[in-house]
Formats: sequence, C-alpha cells, structure tokens
Amino acid sequence: MKAIALQNPGQEYRLALTDIPTPVPGTGEILIKIAAAGVNRADLHQAHGGYPPPPGAPETLGMEVSGHVAALGDDDGIYKIGDAVCALLAGGGYAEYALAQTTCVLPLAAALDPVEAAALPEALFTAWTNVMDTGRLKPGESLLIHGGASGIGVIAIQMFAALGHAVFATAGSDEKCRLCERLGARRAINYKSEDFVTAVKTQTGDKGVDVILDMVGGDYVQRNMTAAAIWGRIVNIAYQNGAKLSLDLNPLLHKRLTLAATTLRARTLAEKSAIRVALAARVWPLVTAGHIHPVVDRRFALGEAQAAHRRMASGDHAGKILLIPD
Ligand SMILES: NC(=O)c1ccc[n+]([C@@H]2O[C@H](COP(=O)([O-])OP(=O)(O)OC[C@H]3O[C@@H](n4cnc5c(N)ncnc54)[C@H](OP(=O)(O)O)[C@@H]3O)[C@@H](O)[C@H]2O)c1
Repeated sequence: MKAIALQNPGQEYRLALTDIPTPVPGTGEILIKIAAAGVNRADLHQAHGGYPPPPGAPETLGMEVSGHVAALGDDDGIYKIGDAVCALLAGGGYAEYALAQTTCVLPLAAALDPVEAAALPEALFTAWTNVMDTGRLKPGESLLIHGGASGIGVIAIQMFAALGHAVFATAGSDEKCRLCERLGARRAINYKSEDFVTAVKTQTGDKGVDVILDMVGGDYVQRNMTAAAIWGRIVNIAYQNGAKLSLDLNPLLHKRLTLAATTLRARTLAEKSAIRVALAARVWPLVTAGHIHPVVDRRFALGEAQAAHRRMASGDHAGKILLIPD
C-alpha cells in the first residue's frame, strides 16, 4: 500500500510517498481502508524528531482516520466489512490502510461524511478526557478553551456548548473568533488585541471560569490562575509558549485551584477504551444528530503531506487539515 515515510527527522524533515506492506489485523483489531487522515500538531513534533511514537506503534505518522472496514481480526463481531468508521490510532494514519483497535473505533451514522469524520477522534478523545476526567467539569460550570480555532478547539467548543456549558474561547484573529462563536462559544477573545483574563472576568461577573483547557502555556499558566474561579481546574495539553517558567503559586493556594497536565497518546489501551465508552454514551449521539460536526480547513492528497504540514506550521488554518489517499 502507499504510505508516507518520514525521512531525515529534524528541522529539514521530508514526507515521501512510498510503498510498505499492508498490515494484517490481529486480535481485537480491524483494518480500515482510509478515506481521510487527520493532521495533528503532534505529527509535526514527531517529524521534527521531538515526539517519538509510543512503544509498539507504527513508525508511520497519523493518529486518527476515517474510512471503511476492509478486514477483521480474530475476535470481530462488532464491525462488518464495509462499515463506515472513524478511529483513534497510536500511529499509521498517513497511508491507504491502517490497523485500529476496535475499542478505539466509533461507527459513522449515514449522515456523517466518511471523509470529514477523520477530523473527530483525536479532538473528541483529547477534549473529553482532559475536561471531564481531569478537569471534572460539572453541570452548570463554565469552560475557557485556549486555541479555540485549533483542530482540538473547534470540536471542544461544540461538544461542551452542546452539553449546556458556557464556553469561552481564545483565538488569534477576529475571523477565527467569529468561527468559535458560530460553533457555540458564548464569547471568543482575540488574544492579540484583548486580555483574556479581563474578558472572562467581565463575562462571568468577576467570578472567573471553572475549568480551563490550555494548549498555550508560557505566561498563560499564571494568567489562567487569575482567570479561574475559586476551586477552578486548569488542564494543560501542551506548552506551545514554553514549559519552563517562573510562577507565583499563591493564587493556586488561596483560590484552591488545581493545575494539571496530561497526554493522550501514551495512555494504555484500557484507558483509551474507557474514554471511548464515555464518548459513545454522552457525545456520539450529539455527533449523529449533527450538533457536533467536523470543521475541515483544507484537504490535501496523501502525497502532499509535506504541503499539509506547511499549512499547519503557518498557523493560518482553522479546524482540521485532512490527507486523502487516492
Ligand atoms: N496532551 C494531549 O494529549 C494532546 C492531544 C492532542 C493535541 N494536543 C496539543 O494540542 C494542541 C492543538 O493541537 P492541534 O492539532 O489542534 O493543533 P493546531 O490546529 O495547529 O492548533 C494550535 C493552536 O494553538 C494556538 N496557539 C499557538 N500559539 C499560540 C499562542 N502563542 N497564543 C495563543 N494561542 C496559540 C493557535 O491559535 P491561533 O491559530 O488562533 O493563533 C492554534 O489554534 C497542540 O499543541 C497539540 O500538541 C495535546
């Protein structure tokens, strides 16, 4: 099958179309004929050599796909050949076919475009577990999502707005802010022209927000403590603006805050499966009903993976970039 090979990992990395053997599904796995693969920022980190795949994961990039079941492993029964699905992968998505653990697969309703569905798994799994499991968001509580126009953010906004929460978001242009508000954010804040701390304090009558999902880090870590409500929970999923900081931790103490950070990819299959169970029960019906929909920035052919990475590196995108095998 055709797949993208990562050559010369580092600053000058290359993504080249090559031929590799089509994988064969084993126990608990299905083979997916890929309709689309989502591009994630973590793929760029991996290509730069700073984010190796977890042990046992394929060397090929790609952590989420959509498509159709092409072959079944030993203990199938849930899915049939030809079923439309999307899946969270440990790797291997930049290809014509990929193996998925059935416990990380979600079935697609007829109304869901089998190409665009590739924009969903990584964002749904990441946002759900960090906001609900780590952030312990409760009914009636408010949420601030930094990077609201990111591949993760556009789904997180829709999910938590659909679940009835007051969602606030930050983004780097007025256009991206309007997108966040169309997706359900009560108010989106252009971080280049407005202070998000002041804005969320104004929006919440000076209370602050209950949970913050942050992928920025750097000076946001201190500012998040100011923007958080008493007993607030702040969860970092990345530190794009820096992880080494000097901090005043007094607000953490006095406001009884929780400061947490997690990654998804390295978790055990059992942990990922538990997230999938929660998503299937609480979120997938909202996807099927159209309340949460994929937001696709641009589609690239699989062989144009390098151009897709350039698009993401530019930061001009909003939503998910997809790779489409021929
Ligand atoms: N921990 C985990 O398990 C996990 C899982 C998935 C993703 N992630 C992380 O989540 C992030 C989003 O992933 P993605 O694939 O959705 O990437 P993406 O679409 O490229 O989004 C990156 C976002 O970061 C925002 N951003 C970057 N620098 C910023 C700054 N200085 N100030 C404010 N915002 C800034 C950008 O906002 P603007 O474009 O509006 O400027 C953009 O929306 C990545 O850092 C990724 O590594 C972590």
